[in-house]
Amino acid sequence: MNAQDSAPQLLMSPPDFFEVAYTINPWMNPEQWSLDAKRLRRDAAWAWSTLRSTYESLGARVIVKPAAKGWPDLVFTANCAVVLDGKAILARYLNEERAGEEEHGHRMFDQLKARGEIDAIFRTPDGVYFEGAGDAIFDAGRRLMWMGFGQRSSRCAHHTVEQVFDIRTVSLELVSPRYYHLDTAFCLLSGGDIVYHPAAFTDEGRELIQALAGDKLIEAPAEDAENLGVNSVCIGRDVVLCHCSPALRAQLEGRGYRVHVVPLGSFNRSGGAAYCLTLRLDNLFKGRAPAGQRLAA
Ligand code: ARG
Repeated sequence: MNAQDSAPQLLMSPPDFFEVAYTINPWMNPEQWSLDAKRLRRDAAWAWSTLRSTYESLGARVIVKPAAKGWPDLVFTANCAVVLDGKAILARYLNEERAGEEEHGHRMFDQLKARGEIDAIFRTPDGVYFEGAGDAIFDAGRRLMWMGFGQRSSRCAHHTVEQVFDIRTVSLELVSPRYYHLDTAFCLLSGGDIVYHPAAFTDEGRELIQALAGDKLIEAPAEDAENLGVNSVCIGRDVVLCHCSPALRAQLEGRGYRVHVVPLGSFNRSGGAAYCLTLRLDNLFKGRAPAGQRLAA
């Protein structure tokens, strides 16, 4: 095994065709985007490269999923699948504006499988929407998958996750259109700490989160949630996010994390930030099957 094998593996897709061309969440305003499209596109390219090099400087290996014309949200790779133990469950998008991305995702994952980066590919049943790691956040310490439903993914997507990964799930209903994927209001850090935005959840959801997180719960200041700072990526003790108030920074640093702020304004206009732009491929729960025994799903 070389050093690269133990490095976090992240799937990212460059914003070559990224724009805000339709509205499928309240952050998206195509008219506003078109007023300044040239600058916003330039900013997106710069921000994406900065995010990528930040991950690489933290020791991650970035695998690139090619962009495709006509699918501006393909850049948000967190949605194309969730991957655990080398098994990928691919997305089924709720909105027809994104449905065409499924074919690109499938092709990409076939290639990853051919290269041995993943072992098997699965899908939710027809009609069961599932927007990948945006609504399925693996918690190694608590041995479960946190799942979001109610805005994009179907509630019953948890059945596929439980069957494929043989893992317990905790389903959280998302009640605010601004926090339409779980990852916009909930972030798990490597030490088991959870950053969350309470207003995105029901009373029952908040109680569940509080009960399971205990003293590892960090309530995001409203300012951070409203700027998509909760949508962050944690690599070891390093947290990469697009916005961090002094109060959130104090909380994170107090718990031993280092904070890296990468402004992602153009992507925020699509309702996305760091976590959305990134898909972790190397999460392990039960481990990967030995090469000879891998499923051909
Ligand atoms: N415009 C995209 C959408 O509404 C943004 C997706 C962001 N991804 C995420 N995992 N939150 O679908």
